[in-house]
Amino acid sequence: MKAEAPANRPALDQLERPLNSLRISVIDRCDLRCSYCMPEEHYTWLPQEDVLSFAEIGTLVDAFVLAGVRKVRLTGGEPLLRRGLPELVARLRQQPGIEDLAMTTNATHLAELAGPLRQAGLNRVTVSLDSLRPERFKSLVRRDALNQVVEGIRAAGAAGFASLKINTVVMRGFNDDELEALIEFGRQVGGEVRFIEYMDVGGATLWSLDKVCSKAQILARLAEHWGPITPCGPQGRAPAERFLLADGTSFGVIASVTEPFCRACDRSRLTADGQWYLCLYAQEGMDLRHLVRAGQTAEELAAFIRQGWSRRIDRGAEERANAPHRGALYQVEALRQDPHREMHTRGG
Ligand code: GTP
Ligand code: 5AD
Ligand code: SF4
Repeated sequence: MKAEAPANRPALDQLERPLNSLRISVIDRCDLRCSYCMPEEHYTWLPQEDVLSFAEIGTLVDAFVLAGVRKVRLTGGEPLLRRGLPELVARLRQQPGIEDLAMTTNATHLAELAGPLRQAGLNRVTVSLDSLRPERFKSLVRRDALNQVVEGIRAAGAAGFASLKINTVVMRGFNDDELEALIEFGRQVGGEVRFIEYMDVGGATLWSLDKVCSKAQILARLAEHWGPITPCGPQGRAPAERFLLADGTSFGVIASVTEPFCRACDRSRLTADGQWYLCLYAQEGMDLRHLVRAGQTAEELAAFIRQGWSRRIDRGAEERANAPHRGALYQVEALRQDPHREMHTRGG
């Protein structure tokens, strides 16, 4: 029998935003090289000895739950490259305070792992898929992996997850002619597609404003093809705004560039080496590895986390939106100096 979930109130930040959702990057490595995330030839990786063990992640998650977290998402790099991931899922499932346990993956290893992850208690899966055309896919990720990814998505569709989502980063002039095909594919596999505006996050060294396909352009294109589109109503604290096509198919748009949603943001991020970031765009994180390795209890860690969150004022995407002459957030030298600036280290 499961124990009662703790009834703690979530910590609130300076803008009254609750600490609700934690994104845990379990590994910084990835087997793909998406041009919007990892376009460079060489990367600086986190030292292996700094990477948290499953037991350390478990203790930290217990602390985050005490501080208010109810939703956990496993990310990478590519999370399925972390050996034994179903064991971590099973460990996190023992924590009754977690109401939702999800994962964002590139699906190259999902065909083998969808079943074991579902069995271990993972609730939901989101897969990145930006093109259905083999040559285009290959040029984007620098690997001939489309079939493998599609097999992985189908396996997830068959494994009985509570939901399957497909994330597509839309780049103007690159894949903005595939929106309809991706929605069709989503229907076939029982997944909801979410179109994401190309963001100027750390790692996106090829970013420029003219490559962003905006929410308005995405909706206009879909309306041209499918007729009227109906908004599903308030999005709450979720990054995605959801819509319905006339035939009832739903999809989402994540408009982080043209309509940033920082005011509702209840998310923070833990890197594989235990650094805690309060914003996707934050310059500095807080070192939780040091505290957990010093033997702090979940209660002690929770007090630190509450205090850290209560000071939070971050509105990274909104501040970027107001920046003059907007270009890539970091140049490659700055990323090499500190890999924590990379989106693939922060977990997408
Ligand atoms: P759900 O729990 O299913 O709503 O998941 P999610 O949409 O929060 O998670 P997912 O990993 O699918 O996130 C989708 C994308 O939204 C990410 O890859 C980012 O591009 C973007 N995103 C997520 N969180 C943030 C955030 O805190 N700030 C900004 N600007 N973008 C975010
Ligand atoms: N812009 C938008 N989304 C990005 N992701 C990574 N880099 C970017 C970017 N520059 C997101 C993708 C992927 C997840 C892991 O991170 O949605 O699905
Ligand atoms: Fe890898 Fe994901 Fe980044 Fe693509 S977006 S390179 S799959 S971490």
